[in-house]
Amino acid sequence: MKIAPSILDANFGYLQRDIDSIATADRIHLDVMDGHYVPNCTFGASIFRQVEFPIEVEVHLMVENPASFFERFIDLGVMGITFHAETVDPDEIVPLLTQLKSAGVKAGICIDGYTDDDALSDEVLHTADQILIMSVKAGLGGQSFMPESLKKCQRLRNRGFKGEIEFDGGVKDHNVEAIRDAGADIVVMGSYLMKADLADRPKLISDIQNL
Ligand code: DX5
Ligand code: ZN
Repeated sequence: MKIAPSILDANFGYLQRDIDSIATADRIHLDVMDGHYVPNCTFGASIFRQVEFPIEVEVHLMVENPASFFERFIDLGVMGITFHAETVDPDEIVPLLTQLKSAGVKAGICIDGYTDDDALSDEVLHTADQILIMSVKAGLGGQSFMPESLKKCQRLRNRGFKGEIEFDGGVKDHNVEAIRDAGADIVVMGSYLMKADLADRPKLISDIQNL
């Protein structure tokens, strides 16, 4: 199983140290929040001026008007950008995914913990490179995994989605196998890694990668 650690719960006083501690992961997951779609605010593109990322970065946009963030992250060379289906008009999803694909980044669409998978049309499934299934309500790290998210994943696979499926929220060592068996390719892990001792993180990451 691939792993994308989230730095949402990193110690921002030692952010470079925390980022370096997860450098053996497959990619880093950046949670961008604007205080509108979700109550919290995090960081924007300026984080790239403050730290260096040793591995590829994907961006999870929890913002209103996500398209207004695309260009600056594309220019910074991120490998993927994922926006929420809840934040745009349903008719806009395919054109926005197409815009991301044309820019050469992995084009992702996210459904929040309370959103059904049928919010994603067959056309969206044909266009998206990635579907991010939130297994909590977006906005905070450290919440409990919602088991019904596994069924969403199975249904999306049954509908023929062949792209990458990523899980985000409440992922711990004990639920990764169920996530994999439901058809997912990659898990985001935030508090599980960031609350662990620095020295233990590479082993926790390789244990997930070996599943
Ligand atoms: C929550 C974020 C997640 C968060 C996951 O809205 O999208 O990426 O960091 O944190 P954990 O793994 O602690 O649930
Ligand atoms: Zn996230």
